[in-house]
Amino acid sequence: MNKWIDEVWEKTQKKLKHTISQMPHDMIPYTTKNGKFVAHEHPYWWTNGFWAGIMWLMYQATGDEDYKALAQKNEIMLDKALYGFEGLHHDVGFMWLPSSVASYKTTQNAESRKRGLMAAAILASRFNTQGNFIRAWNGDATGWAIIDSLMNIPLLYWASDEIKDPRYQQIAIKHADTLLETFVRPDGSINHINVFDPDTGEYLESLQGQAYAVGSCWSRGQAWAIYGFVLSYHYTKQIRYLDAAKLTAHYFIAALSAQDEFVPNCDFRSPKQPVYKDTTAGMIAASGLIDIAKYVGEHEKDLYLTSALKLLRETEKRYCDWTLENDAIVQMGTEAYNKGHNIPIIYGDYYFVEAILKLKGKEGLFV
Ligand code: GLY
Repeated sequence: MNKWIDEVWEKTQKKLKHTISQMPHDMIPYTTKNGKFVAHEHPYWWTNGFWAGIMWLMYQATGDEDYKALAQKNEIMLDKALYGFEGLHHDVGFMWLPSSVASYKTTQNAESRKRGLMAAAILASRFNTQGNFIRAWNGDATGWAIIDSLMNIPLLYWASDEIKDPRYQQIAIKHADTLLETFVRPDGSINHINVFDPDTGEYLESLQGQAYAVGSCWSRGQAWAIYGFVLSYHYTKQIRYLDAAKLTAHYFIAALSAQDEFVPNCDFRSPKQPVYKDTTAGMIAASGLIDIAKYVGEHEKDLYLTSALKLLRETEKRYCDWTLENDAIVQMGTEAYNKGHNIPIIYGDYYFVEAILKLKGKEGLFV
């Protein structure tokens, strides 16, 4: 196992070093076109913190100043979204944890701390006090909450700790509890979107979201649940979150074992054809499973570590591109069941690099 990890780490360094030497530095990668990184058209796009995240992971692991410079440049580019304010949404944790909070933790930059705290204040302000949830998106979806949001609330845990004031953590816990109670089905699978009455907080219905159908199981949402619940356990030490991470992980592992290959389809309950792979779901789950293994007893560890490693190895063997002509490493991601198939997406690379570095003893950027 160690030999494989070392080989992949070598290839990762070689590829990323080459990529940053030839790509434009005033662009935040989202996917690729003809093998070259291209940005998402929207400056507020929720994935715009992941490139900085990859750069911080690489800087922390190698000390190479080129990565740090690019991470810092990316962070400044995000100011357009932060100070633009009106287009911001619930995904500010995805944007500013791997950029500004990582920067602050690595360099103690006071401006980065301020950006992280501003993003936390924006997230907290979206809390619905009747339904005890952080609302998703903007516009008239006033009562919508989504499973992905579990990955944003570490920003609130961090802010509470940073300013020594429990109010942000209290919001995060209430939100996590609502998701635990209403999104996780008895068999461990999850809903993507739940709708609540924004005035009374009453649960109204579940929606299809990025899944195949209402009642099916979007694999990336399942992965967000695994990783998101274990992060809430990390920050609060409330055992119900670790139990939820394990339950959702067991569903994920069982569903994968029933597939032809140990790389998730976009939805675990979609028809056999067409097959839409989502490698990004696998990379997110792998990184979360490695964290679960840290918190369970010796006799349980193996299930989570072996599954994480199998996800990484199978994805690497089948869907990683190590050529220097293609900027992205992990190919064959899917945006949603109904759109954006077979493309690399930047968070596939982020969670791949994060998981490999965790296996080498480092920490991810969401803790
Ligand atoms: N957070 C949105 C997605 O996973 O596509």
